[in-house]
Amino acid sequence: MLSWDDYDNNTEETAVVNEAALQQLKTAEQPAPAAPVAPIVEAAPAPVSPEPAPAAAAAPALDTAAPATEATLDEVFESSENRERVTVDQKAMINCRADLNQLVPFKYDWAWQKYLDGCANHWMPQEVNMTADIALWKSEDGLSDDERTIVKRSLGFFSTADSLVANNLVLAIYRLITNPECRQYLLRQAFEEAIHTHAYQYCIESLGMDEGEIFNMYHEIPTVAKKASWALKYTQEINDPTFNTGTLETDKALLKNLIAYYCVLEGIFFYCGFTQILSMGRRNKMTGTSEQFQYILRDESMHVNFGIDVINQIKLENPQLWQSDMQEWARAMILEGTELEVAYARDTMPRGVLGMNANMMEEYLQFIANRRLAQIGLAEQFPGTKNPFPWMSEIMDLKKEKNFFETRVTDYQTGGALTWD
Ligand SMILES: [Fe+2]
Ligand SMILES: [Fe+2]
Repeated sequence: MLSWDDYDNNTEETAVVNEAALQQLKTAEQPAPAAPVAPIVEAAPAPVSPEPAPAAAAAPALDTAAPATEATLDEVFESSENRERVTVDQKAMINCRADLNQLVPFKYDWAWQKYLDGCANHWMPQEVNMTADIALWKSEDGLSDDERTIVKRSLGFFSTADSLVANNLVLAIYRLITNPECRQYLLRQAFEEAIHTHAYQYCIESLGMDEGEIFNMYHEIPTVAKKASWALKYTQEINDPTFNTGTLETDKALLKNLIAYYCVLEGIFFYCGFTQILSMGRRNKMTGTSEQFQYILRDESMHVNFGIDVINQIKLENPQLWQSDMQEWARAMILEGTELEVAYARDTMPRGVLGMNANMMEEYLQFIANRRLAQIGLAEQFPGTKNPFPWMSEIMDLKKEKNFFETRVTDYQTGGALTWD
């Protein structure tokens, strides 16, 4: 359970980056915008302040048992005498009142396929040999100070970021997505996030790191804290137990949350750290940690693809949600997230390291931002940007992913510990 006891008066100063720009968009939401929305250049993110930022925006009561927007179980059974069987036409991504306990007939085959793909790629952190990493980490001159900083910052950011994603999924998004095959994938994704957090914990423990230092980076290191607090405010918006979709305003709040988590947190905030650690592995350093990150990156690229499909389906089924004001908001969110990730890159790479530097990472992040914008139907904002790390695309390639997993032991001993005496 998240606890944000130390999140207090300075929240407003530190947690909300570019609040003015978003406020401007919020104001524009009230009436249908008649005038053209201000160019995105004017909504550029504010500079990231150097002072420590308690990562933040608290989610004071993440446990929620509020009824979802779909038909309640009582309603399902009360109407059982007169009800007809669920048809595909009755199913919808949000605000659906058909019985959610019936997985089939599928409306979104892609969601079920992604669930199957996720299960086919199952892995566990203990399968990865960490022996070489432990020896290298403990040796006096095995890694430079800059390389050590990258390992610690990556584990510091990711060890809590995946918990933020899992909590957002289970405690905020799950009850609001009213489609059983998508919920099936969300359950798979939630377990994968648990595996990811496990993997980071496994690395931290194997390397003998100061666990308090690493797990508190999202409170104590400003460039890490700002990313965490940026995402958390979108959880806070829909986490209220009384929150329900079904109005223009609340449906938009859910859509913003999905864009924040899938397009920005998982879609941009992960990419500097992933690239740094995988570059280390390519140089035969911290190969066990790098292998863990490689598995995680494969899972994450599927999470992003699933989330983008959900976002686009909601847009398709609810075109009133995707007008110019919301498009402008989404664009501002992605650009703001890119700025925060560039700041993280500059903080973790004050000079060239591992064959890369902060300027190259900035270009890569702009390349990623262009893709995220295009994936949800918005214009690219960094024309002509090239990918300086083409090897990252190869690692994420799904066909290679399947080949990769074919080479691994997949004979899990499910039930192997059970006895029936
Ligand atoms: Fe994850
Ligand atoms: Fe994820």
